[in-house]
Amino acid sequence: MSYSISLTVNGDQRRVELDDPRVTLLDLLRERLDLTGTKKGCDRGQCGACTVLVDGRRVNSCLSLAVTLDGADITTIEGLADGDTLHPVQAAFIEHDGFQCGYCTPGQIMSAVGLISEGHAGEDPERVREGMSGNLCRCAAYHGITEAVIDATRRMAETSERKSA
Ligand code: FES
Ligand code: FES
Repeated sequence: MSYSISLTVNGDQRRVELDDPRVTLLDLLRERLDLTGTKKGCDRGQCGACTVLVDGRRVNSCLSLAVTLDGADITTIEGLADGDTLHPVQAAFIEHDGFQCGYCTPGQIMSAVGLISEGHAGEDPERVREGMSGNLCRCAAYHGITEAVIDATRRMAETSERKSA
């Protein structure tokens, strides 16, 4: 039996035929849609490397069955930049050395984007660490990650204030 689902992925409409209802969103992105920026770390919901946004909320794509996501709006790391202009969170990760090997970085950045839009962490390092605690970094770049999230939060708030002034 095959299952047909329709997704919006980084702004593009995609229709996908699934021949197995157990295909995860992570495998669909990487193996069917060639979006390999989203990483597979543990494949069991423990590391956060596979984090993407589904309808604006962060999810571990290794735990999400693609067949349940018909009609969903998915954003991956490939969809964040605006042409050559990096998303403020991407720019802040570079400026604050928020990575070493980079394997966890797409998941960290997507989680940070979700955390900032949730509006719970603000500029409190402890709350940022708590909000990012589902994303592990084997290189322990946590200090830079926290600094990057705080800086991006500040910059995005300033930009939205300027727009609404
Ligand atoms: S690969 Fe999904 S949480 Fe580790
Ligand atoms: S930068 Fe290497 S795992 Fe995080």
